[in-house]
Amino acid sequence: PGSRSGGSMDGGVGSPGRAQIPSRTLRADRWWVQPVVTFTLLTLWLLYALVRTASQRAYFVEDYHYLSPFSSPCVSASCVPAARDFGTWFGEFPPFVPFALLVLPFLLGFRLTCYYYRKAYYRAFWLSPPACAVAEPHARYSGETRFPLILQNVHRYFFYAAVVVSAINTYDAVKAFHGKDGGFGIGLGTLIMVVNVALLWLYTASCHSCRHLVGGRLKHFSRHPLRYRAWTVVSRLNTRHMQLAWTTLGTLMLTDLYIALVASGALTDLRFYN
Ligand code: FES
Repeated sequence: PGSRSGGSMDGGVGSPGRAQIPSRTLRADRWWVQPVVTFTLLTLWLLYALVRTASQRAYFVEDYHYLSPFSSPCVSASCVPAARDFGTWFGEFPPFVPFALLVLPFLLGFRLTCYYYRKAYYRAFWLSPPACAVAEPHARYSGETRFPLILQNVHRYFFYAAVVVSAINTYDAVKAFHGKDGGFGIGLGTLIMVVNVALLWLYTASCHSCRHLVGGRLKHFSRHPLRYRAWTVVSRLNTRHMQLAWTTLGTLMLTDLYIALVASGALTDLRFYN
């Protein structure tokens, strides 16, 4: 086994039979830009989400029924009563506990086991490998064949949960067509919530598990024209899965931020009707 920068490696790229290349990579381009950008953006997003969900503040605009996706569904006694559309399932939450505790594990599980995010964080956080044709610093490589990474296979079940959560977010967006006097109304917040939820559905529908669910295990597409049709649409969306993954992180953050600004009084909602 050859020795290379990063220590001697008996497995992975150091395995017998592999080309013995003394340098870590022969790539001359700036291959490290992508993992650095991914690392920075994901870390910033997680910090924002952590601060916002732990703060338990400015998550609801009662006048227009804007509920932040970071606090939905709000089903604890700590939630403002008007935000508890699905009832009160729990008592008071202690400080720093996210109001959306009920769905957060499923949402995190969905994104964490997502095929795109796996690629992103394996590269950016675990450097395994940091980029194509760049040797990883780890001596061993077992892929996703062992615990804990074998658990990534549960992704399909998180997909089912994500469909339910997207339905809850849709309900919230519909409720956001709410005017100050209690009737129908539309504001900028309504539009932001609708765009966010539409993109969330696109992200969910473009999931690899969804694609398999819709058109997988079929021997003859010609005998299942409807499923074939659906599979074609999902396949087309699926090619944009990475873009949708990032866009929805952006719209989720924007939706929460806008609601936080209006709820705290820093911003007045732009009203188009009522
Ligand atoms: Fe990304 Fe399923 S959500 S692959």
